[in-house]
Amino acid sequence: MKPFLASLWAIAWLVSPHLGLSATAPESSSLRHAAAKLFAIGVGINDHISQRTNDWPLLTAQFSTVTPENCMKPAALQPTEGAFDFATADAFVDFATRQNLKLVGHCLVWAKDDRTPAWFYRVGQQPASRELLLTRMRQHIATVAGRWRGRIAMWDVVNEALDDGTNYLRPSGWEQACGEEFIAKAFEYAHAADPAALLVYNDYNTELPAKRAKMIRLVRSLRAKHIPLHAIGLQGHYELDQVPLAELEATLVAMRELGVKVVVSELDIDVIPRAKWWAEGGKYRAELRQLNPYRDGCPPEILQRQAEQYAQLFQLFRKHAGVIARVSFWNLHDGQSWLNEFPWQRVNHPLLFDRAGQPKPAFAAVIHALTDAPP
Ligand code: XIL
Repeated sequence: MKPFLASLWAIAWLVSPHLGLSATAPESSSLRHAAAKLFAIGVGINDHISQRTNDWPLLTAQFSTVTPENCMKPAALQPTEGAFDFATADAFVDFATRQNLKLVGHCLVWAKDDRTPAWFYRVGQQPASRELLLTRMRQHIATVAGRWRGRIAMWDVVNEALDDGTNYLRPSGWEQACGEEFIAKAFEYAHAADPAALLVYNDYNTELPAKRAKMIRLVRSLRAKHIPLHAIGLQGHYELDQVPLAELEATLVAMRELGVKVVVSELDIDVIPRAKWWAEGGKYRAELRQLNPYRDGCPPEILQRQAEQYAQLFQLFRKHAGVIARVSFWNLHDGQSWLNEFPWQRVNHPLLFDRAGQPKPAFAAVIHALTDAPP
């Protein structure tokens, strides 16, 4: 064993008893082992994982695939035109490669104006022309996907382009200049830059009938043009007691019928309902900002409901494993969840591991759903 690997192994061995999990865990204590015959198990993690040695044992015992949480987004890699900053993302890719973790690149285009540096789609205060926007996009994708060519297993090529309201596509600088064509071009450019990568269109709420219909339309349209779209990413940011199981199944079946794979790309189950944040023009926001019911811990009955709902989800994923290539959680444990900040600050408990990295009731429920005979 190389000295570096030997020391990693030694750290994992030393720390694992404290986590209650073994670094070489069998089926009963490791998600990735329990799911091995079904799909890959991944996780979106902190950009600076290469320095966060405390996170390594839990990460490598449980997950086979990693997505960097922020450092490969357009705003992180190219905040101003031509000024690429690869330092954090390079360290992330090197870490994952050393640890034998597969990589998901996230994301080449984020089709939301507030998530995209405005220089992409503007010239001064004016909108950029279609040609200029596509040239900038091609340069970004060729540089980014080309840099790690052959090292990224899957790319989220376009993120969140479908509209939540009555439009087909979300209004944005991209959509305004190019219509649906910017999506098709992004996939062509990504495929040219890294022909071996599995290319994903990623979005949220595509379980819900109206948005599902838009996704079906998009897949059909790209397929008709022979665009290299390989999989659909269902983000899977659910809320306790609102997990849309029947609708999710309808989406999985629809994708199977269309012949695209599915990845569940960012799974979590929020225990503090958040839908009201967006209701009625945001009029509940001041009230919600005060809501922090589980700051001293999550009550056992809530953890139990969460466990049951995670189990139902994984039973469904197992039933449809033929179409699902990967299930990734969004963040390593409750203390690192983005839902502690979004859309307001609160102490949240949406994942399978608590703040100490200890398995919660939902962990055993998921292992059971993955390994026992389906009901
Ligand atoms: C989130 C990150 O987790 C946060 O740290 C960041 O502040 C905002 O973005 N859908 C996505 C992810 O595709 O990129 C988002 O990640 C979560 C929602």
